[in-house]
Amino acid sequence: MITFTWDDTPEQYDDPSLVNKLNFEPPFIFSPEANYFIQSDNYPALQKLSPQLKEKIDLIYIDPPYNTGNNFAYNDKFARDEWLSFMFRRLRLAQTLLAPTGCIFIAIDQSELHYLKILCDQLFGEQNYVNDFMWLHGKGKKDTWSRTLQQHTLCYAKDKRQLAPFEETAQTDWATQNKDNDPRGNWFSGSISFSEKRSNPKHKNYFTIKSPSGVEWTRQWQRTRQEMDALLADNRIYFGPAPEYKGVPRIKIFNEDTQKIIPRNIIECVDSTRHAQAHLDELLGHKGLFDNPKPVELISHLIEITAMPKDALVMDFFAGSGTTFEAVCQLNKKDGGTRHTILIQKPEPLQEPGPYKTISDLCWARIQKNAAQYNQPCTRITMP
Ligand SMILES: C[S@@+](CC[C@H](N)C(=O)[O-])C[C@H]1O[C@@H](n2cnc3c(N)ncnc32)[C@H](O)[C@@H]1O
Repeated sequence: MITFTWDDTPEQYDDPSLVNKLNFEPPFIFSPEANYFIQSDNYPALQKLSPQLKEKIDLIYIDPPYNTGNNFAYNDKFARDEWLSFMFRRLRLAQTLLAPTGCIFIAIDQSELHYLKILCDQLFGEQNYVNDFMWLHGKGKKDTWSRTLQQHTLCYAKDKRQLAPFEETAQTDWATQNKDNDPRGNWFSGSISFSEKRSNPKHKNYFTIKSPSGVEWTRQWQRTRQEMDALLADNRIYFGPAPEYKGVPRIKIFNEDTQKIIPRNIIECVDSTRHAQAHLDELLGHKGLFDNPKPVELISHLIEITAMPKDALVMDFFAGSGTTFEAVCQLNKKDGGTRHTILIQKPEPLQEPGPYKTISDLCWARIQKNAAQYNQPCTRITMP
């Protein structure tokens, strides 16, 4: 086995006696029905949260400093060993907080992608790697030789055997035919069964259906008997042209239907960085206070595709401007969910003079605006 090693850079909060001396103000008493914003360095905060939150977090989304060397409002310039040490400490704690059915998404660009992948393979186990969800974020980042169009989001399960399948709801608006003159309009057909050879006769969905001309099909269906009966009664199963009706039964999918598909790992459907910046500027009433916030839709899309229960507990411990809070509020509004969030952001000073002294102040201001807009109260907790 290959072990990935680096020179460890110790941190002051490696010392448990120092962490013991710190206290949340007001004290953190976990309720699954509350949203929390914690202003603190995430390393001691995660340590302090561990006893109450162990295996309780369904989904973690983080967008850590990418280590690009850029001069952002926050530190984005580490030596590689230092960056790996920094990430390792926090990811190890994140792993203990994840529920057995949970997963983590980690945003990253190419500067550290490959190092992060190996670090995470070692920490979470290669077998728990789900995928890299790549986001096409606008015109791309160019150098002399190429233009990089994607940013990355590595996804790991706490235990992939217990992670529910991901799914995406896709609008089906590409049908141009109506082979049986269905009054509901154009449709296309999709597979709804396994071939006889691939069917499992012991499966609960193995049964026989009959076409209008009496042709029998015995195989494993992708629907239960009850669901199949409902589809047949609603003329949603196509058996090929009349009067023979002897084609392999397929499901009719109309243009206004939506379909559950396995999510693509390339995400094109969300706003660009520029739009996300404009959205934040408008929300805060000031331009350019925080660089490169993520689009709200990117984070809500990632949460949505996990198909986790709608009361999932979502954590972001590199909160930045607080996009994850808005994403959860927006998704709850869309699907009637009751997801809750825990965000952590340290009070990193903002260099430009303006309405907020620190990133955590800016984040809290945004959370308050979103909390009012979506009626999702949030409690602020600080730890010096
Ligand atoms: C790339 S930004 C996150 C942007 C965020 N996703 C958004 O959409 O606004 C990374 C954030 O992590 C914060 N951060 C860095 N180190 C931290 C630490 N040790 N504890 C808490 N926050 C930290 C930085 O201040 C910065 O705001």
